[in-house]
Amino acid sequence: MKLIVAYIRPEALNSVKQALFKAEIHKMSVTNVLGCGQQKGYHETYRGADVEVNLLKKVRMEIAVNQEFVEPTIDAIIEGARTGNIGDGKIFVLDMMECVRIRTGERGSEAIG
Ligand SMILES: Nc1ncnc2c1ncn2[C@@H]1O[C@H](COP(=O)(O)OP(=O)(O)OP(=O)(O)O)[C@@H](O)[C@H]1O
Ligand SMILES: [Mg+2]
Repeated sequence: MKLIVAYIRPEALNSVKQALFKAEIHKMSVTNVLGCGQQKGYHETYRGADVEVNLLKKVRMEIAVNQEFVEPTIDAIIEGARTGNIGDGKIFVLDMMECVRIRTGERGSEAIG
């Protein structure tokens, strides 16, 4: 079991969702976040002060999957989010120890799928 955490451009969310649905991946959590990558969000003057790091609006997606869905999930995120420009986003894949469906008490792969 893996937890896939992706940071993407907000405007890419719809196309990523479509690509995930096409790959039969329907479960996800989405939040709005602020972030920056290796460009430090570019330098910008804020209220007269030069800020070192500029946080840009990004969308964070969390998708917990069984092993066979790891690559399809990554592929779908890339398909929906890649423009080829800086700031397209990043995908992190984390080991997931456990998953529990609260309603039934199911655990592990049963609970994810
Ligand atoms: N190492 C990191 N740790 C935590 N969050 C990160 C990290 N790298 C990127 N992010 C998140 O992903 C978002 C998008 O990152 P971004 O695509 O700019 O990565 P990058 O490494 O700068 O690649 P690129 O050169 O293509 O822009 C960031 O705004 C931030 O929210
Ligand atoms: Mg960047």
